[in-house]
Amino acid sequence: MTEFMPPIDDLLVTEEEANNLTYFAFAKPLNGKPHVAEPALAPTRASVGALPDVLAGRYRIERLLGAGGMGAVYRARDLLHEQFGDPDPYIALKILSEEFAESPDASALLYSEFALTRRLRHNNVLRPHTFEVDTDCQRAFITMELMRGLTLDKLLCERPLGLPWKELRDIALPLLDALAYAHARGVLHGDMKPSNVMLSEEGVRLFDFGLGQAEEGILPGLPHLSRNRFNAWTPGYAAPELLEGQPLSASADVYGVACVIYELAGGKHPFRRLPSTEARDGRLERELHAPRNLPKHCWPALRTALAFDAADRTITAAQLRDAMGATSSWLQRLRLRA
Ligand SMILES: Nc1ncnc2c1ncn2[C@@H]1O[C@H](COP(=O)(O)OP(=O)(O)OP(=O)(O)O)[C@@H](O)[C@H]1O
Ligand SMILES: [Mg+2]
Repeated sequence: MTEFMPPIDDLLVTEEEANNLTYFAFAKPLNGKPHVAEPALAPTRASVGALPDVLAGRYRIERLLGAGGMGAVYRARDLLHEQFGDPDPYIALKILSEEFAESPDASALLYSEFALTRRLRHNNVLRPHTFEVDTDCQRAFITMELMRGLTLDKLLCERPLGLPWKELRDIALPLLDALAYAHARGVLHGDMKPSNVMLSEEGVRLFDFGLGQAEEGILPGLPHLSRNRFNAWTPGYAAPELLEGQPLSASADVYGVACVIYELAGGKHPFRRLPSTEARDGRLERELHAPRNLPKHCWPALRTALAFDAADRTITAAQLRDAMGATSSWLQRLRLRA
């Protein structure tokens, strides 16, 4: 029984939340022009109602934790672990929405998310448990560690002026470390945005590799879901080249994470949450200035990471982490003198 299931209205996304969702569409090439996806597939009454109370005879769904462009994440209890006395049998379970599950690529996309995340063992990356299928309802799902905390988009709602440097640094450095590690393991994230980073009780966690990809030669058995077939993006955080149909790259992730860090540092998105192509065409970089809480010595690196043109974005996640982690030379001199 889903005793903790929230009222159905809570499951529907607000307009503002919808702007931050990843938009999915099966791309039909329109005379060679990039396909423009309609915002779609927010969870509906039908997609939630169709879920059984217990999945795969083992996971009791308790309540909705969050919903995105492709599915929903629930808190669930692992009844098997509970039976053997596990004091904390709670997990998170990600399942595709019913509409999305009907598309032929959907389960492969979910499996790809699982396989990419499983490749990463890092303190600041979410830990996945299993990929499973409920044979009765014919739906695939992922089980993973239950993170308890706040996603950065929620944190930003609570802190509209941004975070002071010390707090910002304690989030930005682990986040960049996680991203640099993923890139070093050949895994690209593809959807860097505040709602895909959790400030949990156990520290920062990067998650949602649902649009991720492995670099050439890594995890070769994974079905390659090319963006030509499968368009998806989050308008305010995807680099211009992604919106223009170029393949995902580490550099595109750097653009996204730079937007997130900029927003945390001053409470405002660098380009008013506009799609990056629009921001570029409107020459918004001319109005860009250092966010209020960012120390001066970090700004050149962050500004480089925010370059619209990938050729000018000459910084890696590791270099951005190092630049943000370094103390300014002025501070260093002071310390040396002391
Ligand atoms: N392991 C977890 N523990 C706790 N909460 C989680 C967990 N995974 C996801 N969530 C919550 O569910 C929300 C949606 O999860 P996720 O980003 O994986 O789904 P999505 O459908 O890919 O979303 P989107 O398309 O908007 O990025 C998250 O923003 C977060 O609030
Ligand atoms: Mg997400």
